[in-house]
Amino acid sequence: MRAVSVLAAASLTGLGYCQPAKQKNSTIYNPILPGFHPDPSCVFVKEWDNTFFCATSTFLAFPGMPIYASKDLQNFKLISHAFNRPEQLPAFGNITGQQDGWYAPTLRYHNSRFWIIDSCVGSDTGYLSTSDPYNNTAWTAVTPTNIPGYDPDLFWDTDGTLYSAFAKTVLSDPFTTEIHQVNISMPSGNTTTDRFLWNGTNVQPPEGPHMMLKDGYHYLLLAEGGTAQEHQVTIGRGKSAQGPFETDPKNPILTAYNTSEYFQTVGHADLFQDANGQWWGVALSTRSGPEYKTWPMGRETVLYPANWEKGQWPVLGGPIRGKMEAPLPSVNKNIRGSGAFVRDPDHYTFPPGSSIPSHFSFWRFPQTQNYAVSPSNHPNSLQLLPSRANLTGDAAFVPTDGITFIGRRQTDNLFTYSVDIDYSPSEVGEESGVTLFLTQSYHVDLGIVRLNKTGNYLRFRAEAPDAPEEIVVSIPQEWCDQGMHLQVQAYNITHFSFSAAPKGGQIKQIATVPATIVSNGFTGSFVGVYAWNNGNTKGKTPSYVSNWVYQGQGQYIGNGEFYPSNGQRSGAGF
Ligand SMILES: *[C@@H]1O[C@H](CO)[C@@H](O)[C@H](O)[C@H]1NC(C)=O
Ligand SMILES: *[C@@H]1O[C@H](CO)[C@@H](O)[C@H](O)[C@H]1NC(C)=O
Ligand SMILES: *[C@@H]1O[C@H](CO)[C@@H](O)[C@H](O)[C@H]1NC(C)=O
Ligand SMILES: *[C@@H]1O[C@H](CO)[C@@H](O)[C@H](O)[C@H]1NC(C)=O
Ligand SMILES: *[C@@H]1O[C@H](CO)[C@@H](O)[C@H](O)[C@H]1NC(C)=O
Ligand SMILES: *[C@@H]1O[C@H](CO)[C@@H](O)[C@H](O)[C@H]1NC(C)=O
Ligand SMILES: *[C@@H]1O[C@H](CO)[C@@H](O)[C@H](O)[C@H]1NC(C)=O
Ligand SMILES: *[C@@H]1O[C@H](CO)[C@@H](O)[C@H](O)[C@H]1NC(C)=O
Ligand SMILES: *[C@@H]1O[C@H](CO)[C@@H](O)[C@H](O)[C@H]1NC(C)=O
Ligand SMILES: *[C@@H]1O[C@H](CO)[C@@H](O)[C@H](O)[C@H]1NC(C)=O
Repeated sequence: MRAVSVLAAASLTGLGYCQPAKQKNSTIYNPILPGFHPDPSCVFVKEWDNTFFCATSTFLAFPGMPIYASKDLQNFKLISHAFNRPEQLPAFGNITGQQDGWYAPTLRYHNSRFWIIDSCVGSDTGYLSTSDPYNNTAWTAVTPTNIPGYDPDLFWDTDGTLYSAFAKTVLSDPFTTEIHQVNISMPSGNTTTDRFLWNGTNVQPPEGPHMMLKDGYHYLLLAEGGTAQEHQVTIGRGKSAQGPFETDPKNPILTAYNTSEYFQTVGHADLFQDANGQWWGVALSTRSGPEYKTWPMGRETVLYPANWEKGQWPVLGGPIRGKMEAPLPSVNKNIRGSGAFVRDPDHYTFPPGSSIPSHFSFWRFPQTQNYAVSPSNHPNSLQLLPSRANLTGDAAFVPTDGITFIGRRQTDNLFTYSVDIDYSPSEVGEESGVTLFLTQSYHVDLGIVRLNKTGNYLRFRAEAPDAPEEIVVSIPQEWCDQGMHLQVQAYNITHFSFSAAPKGGQIKQIATVPATIVSNGFTGSFVGVYAWNNGNTKGKTPSYVSNWVYQGQGQYIGNGEFYPSNGQRSGAGF
């Protein structure tokens, strides 16, 4: 009798016994994927050792569609790239638009496989899949789907039907979209004729749809307002995957629009549940403050907790901040594979037998003969051979010519990046150096150049609408024999410096630029190296890069506050 009355009392007060202890809060350090990581899509997969997997947009960066794995939602390791071989979609190599390429991927787990659907703007929309997300070559080729729009979703309904919602431009107005839907049959990728699905809350343009089924409702999560300051997350629901949908009266359910938050442009969300049943959301955000002027890293991935009661609308835990309290899974960095964690620094000397680190990026497909690790005549270096065109390209440039460029994302507001370069150009026009690279239309370069018969110079030059004056300085004779050390540094949150030294010598600043010069469009900054001959095809001088160092020196989160670049919640110093 006594036991029964205790149970009754417990259920009356809602205090239940035998429930798992409430998870303790710890601190989310946003962004969880710092640097150029827009349009995140994530899944939690119990069958794969309770791991979270996320994919993000890459536009023309190659390899594309990085897959990050995490067991604690704080430490994310790069485990593969879904798009890692030209054979998967050869036409990617011919895309001309600097804002085209792979837009927002949707990543899902179904029938023991991981699936991605994505629109490659300038080419095809298609899907690819794998049985092993840790293995690049296990990702299939891209099967085109003929979806007449962008930001496609994947949703398997309980009856087995595969639906894809996507954003379709309304032809009468190129800046207006509607969410449409097709059924897809696998494996052909054939689709039905598309049909109108929803307009969201009519804050143009609705895009980035993700459908999910919960408690008998089909929910449709959208991005509205465009990817800049007006970006917002909205949601609707209906009894059928084919609509109609009612709108959440609380829409937008997450946004930084009309706020003074440092984390702006919050939108393009995805939602998933962990092993404890806790809901989480990811979204893209720009660390720019409402001024939205300085944001060289572009759109980054942020995390927030969500609360989703049975039969109710989800409540997303905004506003997005650099530090947020939430019941995170406990720290666990035990993840397979040799890739880097996204917050790791770099120090590479390219020893014999090593390969190019998986988080390094090219722009479109590389001309592979232009990159060699530890060539026998110059071990412990990365050899670059020049492309004909410079990073911008010239009138004759076609994408398949390639540009000799390799970089890594700027992942910290403050950082120092440097390399040693052994390079003695002998043909006029030859140049090799370091670059801060956003796209072929926005980059800032400091290189060793053969300018004329007199000899070699250091040249600082930028390609951008508001490019600063070019600077040419002669290289002291005593530097020439030692090899050069070149550096790019974000010395504060608004400015970069470009510096040079003889290897092992005193560094000398050549120029500074405001970070606004690379705050533009859909991508985010890379730092890296390049080599070209500027059309003088007699120029074949190799450039040998070594001692590649990238060290983050602070993440800025607004209001004058930073946290350390390798900032994990178990880390020292805070
Ligand atoms: C890409 O362009 C090149 C010419 O630059 C052409 O030879 C090739 O067929 C094109 N490839 C595709 C897949 O369109
Ligand atoms: C990776 O996938 C490829 C293609 O499916 C397969 O041949 C290879 O054995 C896999 N490698 C590993 C380490 O599993
Ligand atoms: C899509 O699939 C659903 C469920 O099987 C079906 O009711 C609907 O007719 C299909 N749509 C088209 C256009 O075939
Ligand atoms: C897919 O569509 C193509 C072109 O319409 C057609 O030839 C093919 O038979 C279809 N495949 C399936 C499995 O329906
Ligand atoms: C959806 O939005 C488009 C573009 O504004 C508009 O033309 C259309 O009438 C809307 N449809 C509905 C059902 O509201
Ligand atoms: C932001 O402010 C504008 C102008 O007052 C208003 O039209 C809009 O609805 C507001 N949006 C949000 C999400 O606060
Ligand atoms: C955890 O943090 C949330 C804010 O995200 C707060 O509402 C909640 O009370 C905290 N829980 C505990 C156990 O401290
Ligand atoms: C790139 O090459 C073009 C064509 O030769 C030239 O006009 C431009 O100044 C060069 N840009 C840079 C940054 O070297
Ligand atoms: C080579 O260029 C440098 C820098 O512009 C200039 O000072 C020098 O006079 C030039 N030499 C010749 C031979 O044109
Ligand atoms: C960064 O340094 C530049 C001078 O090099 C200065 O003009 C700018 O105000 C500084 N930015 C901040 C945020 O302190």
